[in-house]
This record gives sequence, C-alpha cells and structure tokens, in this order.
Amino acid sequence: MSSRSRSAELYERALEILPGGVSRNTVLRKPHPLYADYAKGCRVTDIEGVERIDFANNMASLIHGHANPEVVHAVTEQLSRGTAFTLATEVEIRYAEHIVGRNDGFDKIRFVNSGTEAVMGMLKAARAFTGRHKIAKIEGSYHGLYDYAEISQTADPSNWGLDASPEAVPVAFGTPPAVLADVVVIPFNDPERAIAILEKHKGQLAGIIVDPLPHRVGLIPASAEFVSALREWATNDGSLLLFDEVITFRSEYGGAQEWYDVHPDLTAMGKMIGGGFPVGAIAGRAEVMDVMNPLAETVLFPHSGTFSANPVTMTAGLVTMELYDRDAVARVNSLAERAVEGINRAIEGTGASACVTGGGSMFRVHMKDHPPRNYREAFATPEESRRLHLLLDHLFDAGFIMINTCSATTSTAMGEAEVDALVEAMSEGLKKVRTSSLQGGHKTSASED
Ligand SMILES: Cc1ncc(COP(=O)(O)O)c(C=O)c1O
Repeated sequence: MSSRSRSAELYERALEILPGGVSRNTVLRKPHPLYADYAKGCRVTDIEGVERIDFANNMASLIHGHANPEVVHAVTEQLSRGTAFTLATEVEIRYAEHIVGRNDGFDKIRFVNSGTEAVMGMLKAARAFTGRHKIAKIEGSYHGLYDYAEISQTADPSNWGLDASPEAVPVAFGTPPAVLADVVVIPFNDPERAIAILEKHKGQLAGIIVDPLPHRVGLIPASAEFVSALREWATNDGSLLLFDEVITFRSEYGGAQEWYDVHPDLTAMGKMIGGGFPVGAIAGRAEVMDVMNPLAETVLFPHSGTFSANPVTMTAGLVTMELYDRDAVARVNSLAERAVEGINRAIEGTGASACVTGGGSMFRVHMKDHPPRNYREAFATPEESRRLHLLLDHLFDAGFIMINTCSATTSTAMGEAEVDALVEAMSEGLKKVRTSSLQGGHKTSASED
C-alpha cells in the first residue's frame, strides 16, 4: 500500500496522540493499521475501499457478523429511548432470564462491561466466598488485564521454569510481588502435575480459573480428565472451579462447559453476548453469586459499575442470543469443522509443516508438524513466527481477516462458500510458506523447551 494512503495519513495523526497510534494493540499492522469504513454480514470494507471476509469477528465477539438487521433495529429503537439511566431497566431482567435459561448451572447472573471485568469480578467473588486470596491459573492462558489473571500469559522459555513447576511470570512491569506470590500456575491438560502443584497450596486457594479452549495455550480443548480432576480437587479443598467462557460460550448453547460432566461454580462471559457492544457477565451458583447481594447484612463483595447492564448492550445481547439458538450453534460449528477438514487437506496436499487445532466455532493454524498439547508446545519459535506471518499476510492480501495468531471464528453471517474460499487461500498460502522454507527460511532451533 502506498505511503500516501488514507490509512497511512490517519496513522501519522494517531501516532501523535495515542501511544503506538492505537487504543488496542490488536489492530496494529505494519506499516500501519487499516481503518474500517463499514461492514455488513461477514464482509468489512476499509477506507481504501478494499473488502475482506471477516474471520476475526472482532476477536470472536460477533456471532452474527456485522450490522445484523434485527440487532440494528432493536438497538436503534433503544438509542432513541435513552442509553443509560440511574434506574434499572426491564431488558436487563429479560436478558438475565435468557442467559440463565441456557445453562442449568447458572442460578444468578450479573452484567459488567468487558471480559476483563467479568474475570476480575469472578475472582473477587471467589475470594469473598471462600475467605482465601490465592488463585490458580493455567500457564499461558489469557483472561484479560486484571493483575492476577494475566500472570504467566506471556511466559517464555527464558523465564517459564520447569515443566513440573511453572513460574509465576508477570506481564506488566511493576506488577506487585504480592500478586506473583498469590498466583499458582499449573500446566494445561496434565492432571497429575497440576494436582501435585495444587496440593502445595491446599486450603489457601479461592479458586482455579480454567478456559475450556484457551486460545493462547494453543486452542486445544481441555480434556474431560483434566477438568474432572480440577473439579474434584477444588470440591475437596473448598476452593471454587471458575470457568472463563468469554470466548467459548459460543461453542455450545449453554457454553463449552456442556462438553463436561461437571459444572464450574462460576462462569465469566463476554464478547459475543454483547451483540457487538462492550459486555461481560458473571453467572453461577446462587450461594456464591450472593456475595454480591447488596441486601445482605454484610455485603462480602460490594459490586457496581456505571455502565453495567446498560440498556443498549442488554438489547443487542438479548436479540443476538435469541437468534443464536441451537440450530445456529450447530451451523457455525459445522462451518468451522468444514474449514478444519479443508485446511487439513491443504496441509497434506502442500506438504507444509503446519497443523490445525480448535473446537466449536474456532480454529487455529500452527506452523508445527503436530498439534501442540499445551502452552509450551504451542509457543512459536522465531522461524515458526516468520512462516506464520507470511501466511497471515498472504491471507490478508487474498481478502481474509484472521486473528493475528492465525486463528479464526465462524459466524452465522457466513456460509460454505466463504469457508471454502478461505481454505483455497490457505492452500495457496501454505504453498508459499513451504517454498520460502525450502528456499532459505533458516532452520528452526529445535523446540523451545
Ligand atoms: C478468554 C478471555 N478472557 C477474557 C478476555 C478479556 O475480555 P475483554 O477484552 O472484553 O476485556 C478475553 C479477551 O480476548 C479472552 O479471550
């Protein structure tokens, strides 16, 4: 793209006033981000007039694609009636009833404004309920910006420690040492090692937070064996099992937790349940949720938020989730399955060193011969990163927006034609990657372990 493009000009202005020129690092691209003009369904047009098929869906937050007519209609009506009041609204109750009705394990729910806030609220609720302050989390998993939830999310071979006892590695400079001391890091899908670590903190943990399909850990589903082991250990210990379903609630009608025989005590949600607007929610067992009950004699966890449950988000969320019925869930999941099958065929056909992981309506391409089993295996070497970026650039130029880890989500706004087009572009991209590796891409320096 010419340096005189409108996007380039806008970015020059942005650099003057926004650190790095953006408010969210996710939209950064080199040499500059592209700026959206408008979008409809599964297609986004940037301000240069280029249209692309959107497999990122604002980081897995748009289940019906862009500008769904029913959502637009309902929200427009609500906008003209007011956007935020210091009064409760009926739509909050209707939406709460809808979400709670989707999952037997949800007795009560509270709405907040982001996934970060939902996770933070969930962890604080667990502490208030148990009277304990430590939490356990899976190495590498992303749960948003809360200090405790982000520990180890960017751990690398230089600091992650032994397989059997992962280090608590801070993300932000200045993270209080007390936070590191209160976060216990466990390896993914390794019940034996995880339980051995948890045992050392018996009686001290408020909860164990688990994303059932953690994106940064490799987008591999948590095994039933792993989840059951954590459930059993937490129950015996008096700590809580906490699910982060900010992304994965899309996977089944009542969330990815339907994959397991056991229930978490609390679940954090966000992204798609806002129907395109900022949202978060905490739901679960009444007894635990009641730590937020302002009518209690002693309120264990006072909880509030100026824009929580605002009627615009509640309206968009309710319409979106009513449209996301069991048939719609099955349809987006089968589109993702079709994509994974097609990409696997492309990998085989091109002989590229790549693999694909995923679950529900999400999938992720790795530049590795075998699907990784945990964060350490999913961690990309510099050579794998180089190849991945080559593939991502190819896909972008071919008209596809992916999540920057080469992950993708399907939406109800797309069909088999869009999925097949992505597979076709992926096949061409993998050929390019393979040729580049044969021609001089340097050898990967073994595994990062
Ligand atoms: C699993 C998970 N939890 C929490 C969050 C944080 O959500 P938000 O960006 O809305 O704060 C994210 C965001 O990507 C996420 O993927």
